[in-house]
Amino acid sequence: MVSRVIPVDPFDLVIFGGTGDLARRKILPGLYRRFHDGQMPEGARIIGAARSEMDEAGYRDFVRGAIGEFVQKRNDKDIVDAFLERLTYVAVDAKGTDGWDELAHAMRPDVIKAYYFSVGPSLFGDIAERLMNHGIADDEARIVVEKPFGHDLASARALNETLARHFDETQIYRIDHYLGKETVQNLMAVRFGNMLFEPLWNAQYVDHIQITVAETVGVGGRGDYYDKSGAMRDMVQNHLMQLLCLTAMEPPSKYDPDAVRDEKLKVIRALESVESDDIVRGQYKSQAESYIDDVENPRSITESYVAMKVRIANWRWNGTPFYLRTGKRMKERVSEIVVRFKEPPHSIFEEDTGQSANELTIRLQPNEGMDLTVTIKEPGPGGMRLIDVPLDMTFAEALGEEAADVPDAYERLIMDVIRGNQTLFMRGDEVEAAWAWTDPIIDSWTVREDRPHPYEPGSTGPEEALILMHRDGRRWRELRT
Ligand code: BG6
Repeated sequence: MVSRVIPVDPFDLVIFGGTGDLARRKILPGLYRRFHDGQMPEGARIIGAARSEMDEAGYRDFVRGAIGEFVQKRNDKDIVDAFLERLTYVAVDAKGTDGWDELAHAMRPDVIKAYYFSVGPSLFGDIAERLMNHGIADDEARIVVEKPFGHDLASARALNETLARHFDETQIYRIDHYLGKETVQNLMAVRFGNMLFEPLWNAQYVDHIQITVAETVGVGGRGDYYDKSGAMRDMVQNHLMQLLCLTAMEPPSKYDPDAVRDEKLKVIRALESVESDDIVRGQYKSQAESYIDDVENPRSITESYVAMKVRIANWRWNGTPFYLRTGKRMKERVSEIVVRFKEPPHSIFEEDTGQSANELTIRLQPNEGMDLTVTIKEPGPGGMRLIDVPLDMTFAEALGEEAADVPDAYERLIMDVIRGNQTLFMRGDEVEAAWAWTDPIIDSWTVREDRPHPYEPGSTGPEEALILMHRDGRRWRELRT
C-alpha cells in the first residue's frame, strides 16, 4: 500500500530562524522529503531568513548538510540538487530595518505566502509588524508559530494579542508537533471510524485511562530552557493535553478545524483542578548522572517527571480518572494510551479462574500499533481456566513497511499550512484554556516550595508515582516497547 501524494499549490515559504536548530533538524529535512515524494509543485520556493550574513550558495550548503545529517532514506544527490534550486536566503534583522526590502523584493505576488516563525516568542511581534509594513502579508498569508506558546496564561494571552493585531485567527498556525504524528491522528480514526469502540468509550465501561509519554533522553543541551519550564510546561500543557483531548472529546460533527477544536476545548474546560496529593513530581538523580548537573543548577527544584490523576467533569467521564505521566531519562521510550475497561459485572466462572478486564493500548511510538487484551479459555483439558491474550496489531506488519514509512510530523504540518488546513493546529482559546488549567498547579508548587522526588535515571520514575496508582487499586502499565 502506497500513500497518495497530492501536490500543493505554488508557495513562497519564509523560514525566520532559517539557520537555527529546528530548521536544520526538522523543517528543512521535512521539506526535502516532501519535495522528494513529489508534493512540491514547480512553483514552490523556500526562503531562509536569519541574522547571519550568508549568500545563497552558503545557505544551500547549509541545507545540504542538514539533509545529509537528518535524512536517512531518499538521500539522493540529483534530487537534493534539484531541491536546493528552490532555496534562497535573505539576511534579515527581525528587530531592525536591514534586509526587509530585500525580503519584500524576493516575494512573488501570486503565490501562497507562509511565514514560519522559528524564533523565540519575543520576536513574534516585531516580525509580524514588519511583514505588514512591507505589504508582504496579504489576507491569505499564513504564519506558523512554535511552542513554547507562552510560559503561563498571561504570557500566552499577550502573545495571542500581539499576533491578533496583525493577523486573523484563520491565518495563525500554532504547532504542537504531536498532532502531526500519524498515530495521534489515528486516535481519531480508531474512535470515530469504527462502531466497535465508541459505544464503550465512557465511564460506564471504562475503569480508567493512562496516557504515558516516557523518554530515555535527558535534558542535556537544552538545560537553560528546560529548567525554566519543567515537564509540566514542556510536555503536559501541550502534548499530553492534546492526547487527553483526542481521547476524551465528544465526536465532532465533521473532521473540520473548528468542529474538532471546539470539542477539544470543551474537554480542557471540563478538567477539574488537581489536588496536590493527586500529582507527583520527580527529578532524575544518581551518582553518575543527575538533572541538576545537566542543567548546571545545583539548587534546581524543576521536575523532569510528572505523574497525575486527572478528572473530567462531564457526563461521559464522571467517575473515570485519567492518569498522565511523562518523564525524561526513563527506562524506555514509550508513548501510549491505555484504555482499561471494567470487569464484566458478573462472573459465571469460578472465582480463581483468572478472569480480568480488557485493555486497549494505542501505541503512538515506537512500534506504532494497537493491542487489545481479550480473555479466552486456556487451551487444554484442565477445566474452565481463563487467560488473557493480546490481539496485537503492529501497523508496519499489518500495512507493510512502505506504508509505515510515514511522513514526520513536521512534513505533514507544513503541507497542511500550505493547504490552509488548521485541523491539526491549536487555536488561541485552546492554548489559553490549557494554561488556565496548568497555572494553578505550578503556582501551588511555588507557594509550597515543593521539591520533586528523586528517581534513578533509566528507571520507571519515582516510587511515589506507583503509590498514586496503588492507592486507587490500580497500576501503571509496564514500560515496554
Ligand atoms: C518537545 C519537548 O516538544 O517534545 C521535548 O520540548 C521533548 O522536551 C519532545 O523531548 C518529544 O517529542 P518526540 O516527538 O520525540 O516524542
